[in-house]
Amino acid sequence: MSAKLNIFITGATGYIGGSVVSCLLKHPQAASFEITALVRSAEKAEKLHTLGIKTVLGSYTDKDLGFLTKASANADVVFAIADSDVLPAAHAILGGLKIRHEKTGKAPILIHTSGLAIIMDDARGLHGDHKVYSDLESEALNAIAESVLHRDVDISIVAADKAGYVKAYLITPGTVFGYPSGPLVDLNIQNKHSIQLPYIIKPSIARKQGAYIGKGLNTWSAVDVNDTADLFIIIFDAAISNSPAAGHGTEGYYFAENFEYTGLEAAKTISEKLFELGLASSPEPNAFTQDELDKNFGSFWTLLSTNSRAKGDRGRALGWAPKFGKEEFLANVKEEVAFYANELKA
Ligand SMILES: NC(=O)c1ccc[n+]([C@@H]2O[C@H](COP(=O)([O-])OP(=O)(O)OC[C@H]3O[C@@H](n4cnc5c(N)ncnc54)[C@H](OP(=O)(O)O)[C@@H]3O)[C@@H](O)[C@H]2O)c1
Repeated sequence: MSAKLNIFITGATGYIGGSVVSCLLKHPQAASFEITALVRSAEKAEKLHTLGIKTVLGSYTDKDLGFLTKASANADVVFAIADSDVLPAAHAILGGLKIRHEKTGKAPILIHTSGLAIIMDDARGLHGDHKVYSDLESEALNAIAESVLHRDVDISIVAADKAGYVKAYLITPGTVFGYPSGPLVDLNIQNKHSIQLPYIIKPSIARKQGAYIGKGLNTWSAVDVNDTADLFIIIFDAAISNSPAAGHGTEGYYFAENFEYTGLEAAKTISEKLFELGLASSPEPNAFTQDELDKNFGSFWTLLSTNSRAKGDRGRALGWAPKFGKEEFLANVKEEVAFYANELKA
């Protein structure tokens, strides 16, 4: 039996996952890790091999997910950081971890990525008045309906933890922003951009003015991508050392957040940058019309204008100390405006 800690990671080339891989590569115990990453392209696989990372080729959307079960059955720790919402993929990973448990008698570790949409309301940008949930409110969080975004997968994972064959931790970020760095960025195989910001930035560039939904009063929690990766590593360290301080399963939501921003603040920042770039006639934002909302987002606009307000108390109790706040967020929004303005011009 290998003395190495076998780690399987999905989403390794993503904004969050790539940042986690970079942290694992420079972890004090890195020499004892055998890392295998799921990838969707042979080209990215080859580049990961240069970092000493093994790969499995496949997609969560493949018909046969046996490769996920097999890779998870070989893992002591699985980081699931690809698409949060593919239930068959979650089942395939859990199936593999169950096999691992039967083989070793130990409960392997699953660190899964959920999202703060689990606590959103339906404000449509009209107010910011929504409960701020702490991740310590386990009873309330476990009672959230299966129909809410991310919850079908989360519920399956918590049930597996309850059944005792896996120890499951659910990292749950708000809007993730900031600049990843490290070997995967250097190899040009990691996504370097927030997946949430372009939803509002791209249509703002097209309409030549920053825009909010409703009154722009909806409020979201946000967190830097490197701070998010730090939280993954703090949970990983606690889990592999069997720390009783790290809750799991029904006590396993870890909210990743460090401050809040409103739709209006984001829109104002986008408008100011567009004005500075000579791409808007005013630095002031205004509201998307209903026609614009329907055209740009379809029914998705209601999700973009929710409140989702959180306190990540559980990670902080383990020593997580996120460093980057609103100032860095607004600066990042401006950089992303410049990036997409350039990209859309090309
Ligand atoms: N970023 C946020 O603001 C945020 C906030 C809350 C929750 N989350 C959740 O966290 C997860 C990761 O987010 P991210 O920002 O890191 O996203 P990302 O930058 O788009 O990265 C996604 C990663 O997953 C891989 N991937 C995507 N679809 C896949 C599939 N069908 N099968 C296998 N691999 C797949 C991608 O591989 P390729 O390199 O091949 O594309 C990439 O490595 C997402 O599920 C997201 O919902 C993100």
